[in-house]
Amino acid sequence: MPKTIVITGASDGLGAAAARQLVADGHRVVVVGRSEAKTKAVADELGVRCFVADFADLHQVRTLAAQLAEHFPHIDVLVNNAGAILGERRVTADGFEETFQVNYLAPFLLTNLLLDTLLASRALVVQTSSNAARLSARLDLDDLDNARNYSPVRAYGNAKLQLVLFTRQLHDRYHGQGLSAVAFHPGGVASNFARTSRSPVGSLFRTPVPRLFFQSPDKAARQLLRFVTPASGDGFESGAYYENGTARTVKAPPVGPQLWEATTALLGLDRK
Ligand SMILES: NC(=O)c1ccc[n+]([C@@H]2O[C@H](COP(=O)([O-])OP(=O)(O)OC[C@H]3O[C@@H](n4cnc5c(N)ncnc54)[C@H](OP(=O)(O)O)[C@@H]3O)[C@@H](O)[C@H]2O)c1
Repeated sequence: MPKTIVITGASDGLGAAAARQLVADGHRVVVVGRSEAKTKAVADELGVRCFVADFADLHQVRTLAAQLAEHFPHIDVLVNNAGAILGERRVTADGFEETFQVNYLAPFLLTNLLLDTLLASRALVVQTSSNAARLSARLDLDDLDNARNYSPVRAYGNAKLQLVLFTRQLHDRYHGQGLSAVAFHPGGVASNFARTSRSPVGSLFRTPVPRLFFQSPDKAARQLLRFVTPASGDGFESGAYYENGTARTVKAPPVGPQLWEATTALLGLDRK
């Protein structure tokens, strides 16, 4: 059965690779990107609809959600894949630290604004997280904006951990109504990720190391596709975080409900 699948961060990297494979398999894919030219190029190549939004501007995320809800009354899968590690600390016009906003607040907002459609569709939400959630997060609910002890790597780890906690909350709050959610680490991917980041990760991605030792976006996309179009017997646990096909525990304070409340308050969402 063809599925309607919305993928953010589909203008490049593993999102674009997943979109190509899903279209080849006969699914209806909606490509979302930041760069208009790159997003349109992928959509034109695949013959699918596309939408453009910069997650560093929450107004654009709200517009994107409205466009998606208008054009797609049924969404089987929302893949929150867009993400980036940045450099020097920057605050967006919305007033949030940019890594926190792009990697966590924006997908939280998009998902919540689409929640009626997702619930009616008994949809799956897939979050591209990272092992940075385990390795470099130091989550502090009193400093969600990473104002104290900022580093690009820590801010990125915090946002990816927030996605893992968000995934569990989506499950706890809405699985009873048919919604499923899962988060995963794609592994190291030889993509354009981090190339402009002034951080140790950016320095690494500007060397030949990723091209020589990391997997291709096509291969990484398989980590994503195992949730979107699981082969028979390839089940997964809703609410969980996966690395390499295995559910993993991320050691973190049990602050998922408090993070949810804090996030809805920051975004002015009234849904509890
Ligand atoms: N590469 C790795 O080794 C690795 C490891 C762990 C996790 N991840 C995660 O995997 C996901 C995909 O990364 P990738 O490796 O495919 O990287 P990529 O090639 O750099 O692709 C990133 C995608 O995110 C979009 N994006 C970046 N900033 C955005 C913003 N402000 N607003 C909206 N969209 C934005 C990009 O849009 P444009 O191209 O249109 O600007 C692009 O489509 C990310 O969430 C990343 O954190 C990657």
